[in-house]
Amino acid sequence: MNDVPAPAPLVLVIVGGSMAAVKAPAVLRRLREGGARVRVIATQAALAFITELSLATAAEGEVATDNTWFMARPDAQHLTLAKADATVVVGASADLLARAALGHASDLAAATLLSVRGPVLWVPAMNERMWRHPAVQANAERLRTWGHRFLGPEVGAFGTRGEGSGLGRMAEPEDIAAATLALLRPPAARDLEGLKVVVSAGPTREYLDPVRFISNPSSGKMGFAVAEEARDRGAQVTLVTGPVSLSDPVGMQVVHIESALELREAVLEAARDADVVVMTAAVADYRAAQRSDEKQAKVAGDVTLHLTPNPDILAELGEHKGGRVLVGFAMETHAGLERAALKARRKNADFILLNYPTREGTAFGGDDNEVTLVRPDGTHDAWPRLSKREVARRLLDEVRRVRAAAAGAGG
Ligand code: CTP
Repeated sequence: MNDVPAPAPLVLVIVGGSMAAVKAPAVLRRLREGGARVRVIATQAALAFITELSLATAAEGEVATDNTWFMARPDAQHLTLAKADATVVVGASADLLARAALGHASDLAAATLLSVRGPVLWVPAMNERMWRHPAVQANAERLRTWGHRFLGPEVGAFGTRGEGSGLGRMAEPEDIAAATLALLRPPAARDLEGLKVVVSAGPTREYLDPVRFISNPSSGKMGFAVAEEARDRGAQVTLVTGPVSLSDPVGMQVVHIESALELREAVLEAARDADVVVMTAAVADYRAAQRSDEKQAKVAGDVTLHLTPNPDILAELGEHKGGRVLVGFAMETHAGLERAALKARRKNADFILLNYPTREGTAFGGDDNEVTLVRPDGTHDAWPRLSKREVARRLLDEVRRVRAAAAGAGG
């Protein structure tokens, strides 16, 4: 066994001459938070938009430029920098794309791009007319044929001269970092690539009046773990979450909701073109029949709340299942296996993960979970106590098995 830990992966960040260069420090910070080491090249044009000092501070290291390239030094800097495990070009301009597509070595960035071995991700940022020009598109296409990848440009506000919005805005730093870190994983680990996964997480809040609500102690940790695991395995993820104290994970769409009705709307919308829906949300079964717009003052004696049932979102998805894999969670305190199998059949879910809210250290708020996978036919697998991330991994493995079985059955 080798006890020496592998060094953290090395990412080369090339900063191009575009307004979006100002986002490069945030990308560097996110990459480092994600566990990567970073090296930076700033083109001459990039330095018109961002200072070397801002980049060096975010990278906690020196910035390579055309000036450092021509300094007397023992190494060929473009070859040393090209040894990175992955390269990302942030704020890629039309000119840098052209230099790379034509194989120029006229500056440090272009010369390094001729020598890189690892995957390359381009994150273009330019005016829409420039991006759409056949010359730019042909250059991008040429790079794609060599295996280079592209992230964006996105639709949104760009530039500073009130050019309005349109295609051309660079992707957000957290998405760039997530996409770059994903390139570092071997293809075998990206077994959910091409799938859209929707995950619901956390509690719902059913307001009785503006200051009081019915809710539950769901922490959202299980759902977040499923969403992050799916993202890391290459899926496109939408996470719909109730109020939790976790920060939004990077590299996925996050939708915040409060009530069960809002959760229903967000999940059904996201599920339309989804391949997999995992309902970990602890949905309140009831809401106030009549929510008061004014705070209710206390009265003497007992009060009675009039509650009305919330729609069952998982069951609704099950009614129009299509080719989607549906996964539910269930909490039971007694007769768990029978009740969970019945629930899976009633809601038309492919399987349900049954857990026990009363067990120490698992379920609500804990970092571990002890669940039993229950299928509609009653067959089940009891998993030992595991981290929520490991539960997420096994859950998604089962999703793959269900999809493979369905594909087999369909011919
Ligand atoms: N669920 C849902 N919509 C609801 C209630 C629950 O989509 N209104 C989902 C949950 O996210 C979970 C699964 O259904 O994945 C099982 O939830 P649970 O509350 O245990 O099911 P119920 O049918 O409400 O069962 P019980 O009668 O035990 O409360």
